[in-house]
Amino acid sequence: MSTHIGAAPGDIAPLVLMPGDPLRARWIAETFLDDARCYSEVRGMYGYTGTWRGHRVSVQGSGMGQPSLAIYANELFSEYDVQAIVRVGSCGALTEKLAVRDLVIASGACTDSSMNTIRFEGLDYAPVADFALLRAAHDAAGSLADGAGVHVGLIFSSDSFYSPRPELTARMVEYGVLAVEMEASALYTLAAKHGRRALAICTVSDHIVTGEETTSQEREQTFGAMVEIALTAALA
Ligand code: HPA
Repeated sequence: MSTHIGAAPGDIAPLVLMPGDPLRARWIAETFLDDARCYSEVRGMYGYTGTWRGHRVSVQGSGMGQPSLAIYANELFSEYDVQAIVRVGSCGALTEKLAVRDLVIASGACTDSSMNTIRFEGLDYAPVADFALLRAAHDAAGSLADGAGVHVGLIFSSDSFYSPRPELTARMVEYGVLAVEMEASALYTLAAKHGRRALAICTVSDHIVTGEETTSQEREQTFGAMVEIALTAALA
């Protein structure tokens, strides 16, 4: 096993879907995968491997925030030879161009995290999605989005769910950022470092401008559509 994942080499598929919530990982495995087997319960951050339409696929919870995601992404890339990670998460809408339940496919991820400031000694690195995965997800969303709007653009990976400086988030919006979440920037950076592929797809769970929120039933429905889009984009 690696430090935080209780799996043997070969237990984890080359493609990993990565929700923040480990219980979502379990739900994806139970709902979408055949012959799903739990390979790790370390710290309750469940990981499962099964098959989808005959392809092996794993689902691994990341936890919330870039430091937590980075632990799992680093170990998956460096110790389990994972080739692609698709984050399937939620985000808060920052502009009225978006509605709750919409899907945001993140072409790139800005951040207020110091992780890349330290990594690049103050230079601004631009973490971006794998283009082939992004294009395939956009294509798949055309038929699978289940009525939700689909947007491709920048998201803001914040270290703070409860922002201490909302005016800075507003400035991000002036520069084209669509939504806020907490993980994609680290995922894109680590995929680049390891020469692997990554994409983040997020459903809009809450609207920072209008205050609208989704019900848990709506969240489950749109989350399911997003998982199908992610699997179709990466495997079909
Ligand atoms: N902020 C940060 N992350 C999020 C949010 C939010 O409002 N909604 C869903 N993930």
